[in-house]
Amino acid sequence: MDLYLDTAEVSEIREIASWGVLGGVTTNPSLVAKSGRGFEEVIREISAIVQGPVSAEVTAMEAPAMIAEGRKLAAIDPNVVVKLPTIVEGLKACKALSAEGIRVNMTLIFSANQALLAAHAGAWCVSPFAGRLDDISWDGMDLVAEIAQIFDIHAIGTRVLAASIRHPMHVLQAAKAGADIATMPAKVFQQLIQHPLTDKGLQQFLADWEKSKEKAKQP
Ligand code: E4P
Repeated sequence: MDLYLDTAEVSEIREIASWGVLGGVTTNPSLVAKSGRGFEEVIREISAIVQGPVSAEVTAMEAPAMIAEGRKLAAIDPNVVVKLPTIVEGLKACKALSAEGIRVNMTLIFSANQALLAAHAGAWCVSPFAGRLDDISWDGMDLVAEIAQIFDIHAIGTRVLAASIRHPMHVLQAAKAGADIATMPAKVFQQLIQHPLTDKGLQQFLADWEKSKEKAKQP
């Protein structure tokens, strides 16, 4: 399962990219607005840092305008994946952009049937929002597993991107559920590497090493 960052903060992307494990980046209009930067400018900068797909979302609501916006976004960098909302107009735009060879991430997926439709429209990936389903007392990871199972049964090549990831358990659950990609905030990425026993064990190793050096110095 590839690990993506869900952010438009360039400093966070630089930091996690330096670890050598970053598969890609997803953004959305809220994240870009939060960054306080121009849309195209920030997508261009992110694409220059990341060696992988960078999802950039259209804001148009009608298919012709979505297609025009999508083409413009895709022209920014070959790594750009156009993100479209899973509504009827989004399906139409997905079909058209996919036919042109532009990769599409169908977003705001909250049911397996929406994912199936998105796959039929040629989507490169679908983004079920696990955390937002959890927020309304619905098991978001059940949906991720359901979509992964359906795509597997029917040999559908569209990737399952587990989105709206809120904590490390979500990442683990997404991997077990068969998601191809999980996208998460930088905070969750940082939490994945932390373990108190790793810190404790390392301190012990270093202390023992120092002690052995002291001992070697003694006559
Ligand atoms: C995915 O592409 C979305 O940007 C994101 O995962 C939404 O997460 P949220 O529900 O935490 O806002």
